[in-house]
Amino acid sequence: MRVWLLVLAVWARASGLRVVTGAVSMRDPQFHRIRRLPPYVFSEVNAMKAEARAAGRDIIDFGMGNPDQPPPKAVTDKLVEVLQDPRVHRYSTSRGIAGLRRAQAAYYERRFGVRLDPERELIVTLGSKEGLANLAAAITAPGDVILAPNPSYPIHPYGFIIAGAAIRHVPMLPEVDLMAELARAVQHSVPPPTALILNFPANPTTRVVGHDFYREVVAFAKRHEIFILSDLAYAEIYFEHAPPSILEVEGAREVAVEFTSMSKTYSMPGWRIGFAAGNPQLIGALARIKSYLDYGAFTPIQVAATAAINACEGAIDEIRQRYRERRDVLVEGLHTAGWPVPAPPATMFAWAPIPEPFRHLGSLAFSKLLLNEANVAVSPGIGFGEYGEGHVRLALVENRQRTRQAVRSIKAFLQRQRAAETRPEPLAVA
Ligand SMILES: Cc1ncc(COP(=O)(O)O)c(C=O)c1O
Repeated sequence: MRVWLLVLAVWARASGLRVVTGAVSMRDPQFHRIRRLPPYVFSEVNAMKAEARAAGRDIIDFGMGNPDQPPPKAVTDKLVEVLQDPRVHRYSTSRGIAGLRRAQAAYYERRFGVRLDPERELIVTLGSKEGLANLAAAITAPGDVILAPNPSYPIHPYGFIIAGAAIRHVPMLPEVDLMAELARAVQHSVPPPTALILNFPANPTTRVVGHDFYREVVAFAKRHEIFILSDLAYAEIYFEHAPPSILEVEGAREVAVEFTSMSKTYSMPGWRIGFAAGNPQLIGALARIKSYLDYGAFTPIQVAATAAINACEGAIDEIRQRYRERRDVLVEGLHTAGWPVPAPPATMFAWAPIPEPFRHLGSLAFSKLLLNEANVAVSPGIGFGEYGEGHVRLALVENRQRTRQAVRSIKAFLQRQRAAETRPEPLAVA
C-alpha cells in the first residue's frame, strides 16, 4: 500500500499535478483565510487616484468615509492633560475602563431610554470594526451560515468569512422588503443561520429603519433562534429622524448586540473607540476573546473618550450640521447638473444611481471615468457587494467649497457627454 502511494506521489509530481490538501507550502503560500479575501475593488480606483495626484492633478476625494473634521477641543485637551500622568501608560483593560462604560450606559439611557448594566451588557472595543470581527471569531464554528446585508460595509461579511463562516447575502437596497428577504434567506439556508447582521442607517445605501422593523426582526430572530449583530455606527449622523436602537425593543437583548462608535459621532476615527452593548452572553463571549488578544485602548484615549460622551453633546450637533450642509450642496448641485441623487436621510454618504448614459458601463468603469474626466473620486458600488452594482457612493468628507468645485466639474463632464451624443454623425464619404 505504502509503495503504491509513493509511486502515485512521484507520478503526480512528474505530471505537474497539484494535490490540494489545505497544507501551505512556503514556495506557493495559499493561506486558508487570505484565500477567502478577494482583492479589494477600491484599490483599482485608489491606485488611479494616487497616479493622478502624482501627476499634479487636484483630485476631489469622496472615496473613503474618513471623517475630516477635528474632534471637540475639550477632548484633545483632556487627552493631553491625562498623558502627563505617569500612571496611565500601563496596560489598560480589554473590557474598557469602568468610567467609559458607565458614560456609554448613561448615553444609552439619555438617547434611547435603554438601561444597560455596564458590567454585563457593555464593552469598549477598538472601534466597532474590531468588535464586529472579534465577536464573529468568538461565536462562529466553521461552516456556520450567517445572514449579511448586501451591499454592505465590508467587515460585515468578511469578519465572519475570516472566522470560517458561510455567508448568505441578503439584498438590503432601499426599495426591498426587508422582512420578505430575510424570510426567504432563512427558508433556503442549510444549515439554518446562526446570526444576522444589520446596519441601519446603512453604509453604503443610507437606508434607515424604525421601531416597527426592529420589533419584527427581533421576533423573527427569536422564532428562528438567530443572534442579531446590529451596527449603529451612524446613530448620530442623521438629517431627519434620530435613528432608534434595536435595544429599545422589549426583549431585544435576549438575542441582539449593538455596536456604536465614536469615529463618526465625535469625528474620532483614528482613536479606535467603539462599543458593543446588549445580550450578556454575546458581550461575555467578546470579552473573553478580547482578554486573549488585547489590553484595550490606551487609557488616556479612554479617559478623553469619557469626557467626550459626558460633556460634548453640543459638538455632535455641530458635526451633524456640517454633514448636512455638505449633503445639501452635493445633492442640490448634482440635481442641477442633471444627475438626480436622492438626499440621504442619514450617514455621511450619498448613494447615487449611475446616470443613464453611463449605466451600461458598471460602477467601476464609471468611477474611473469620473476620476479621469472630472477629477472626482467616488467608491464604485460593486465594491460593497453584488447588489451594489449600478450605484456609486460619495462620502461627505470634502468641505462645501471643494464639494461645489466637484459639482461644477461633474456638470461640465456631463455637458460634454451630452454634446457628444447630440452631435450629428459625420457624413459618410462616398
Ligand atoms: C457601518 C459602519 N460600521 C463600522 C464602521 C467602522 O467604525 P469604527 O471606526 O468604529 O471601526 C464604519 C466606518 O466607516 C461603518 O461605516
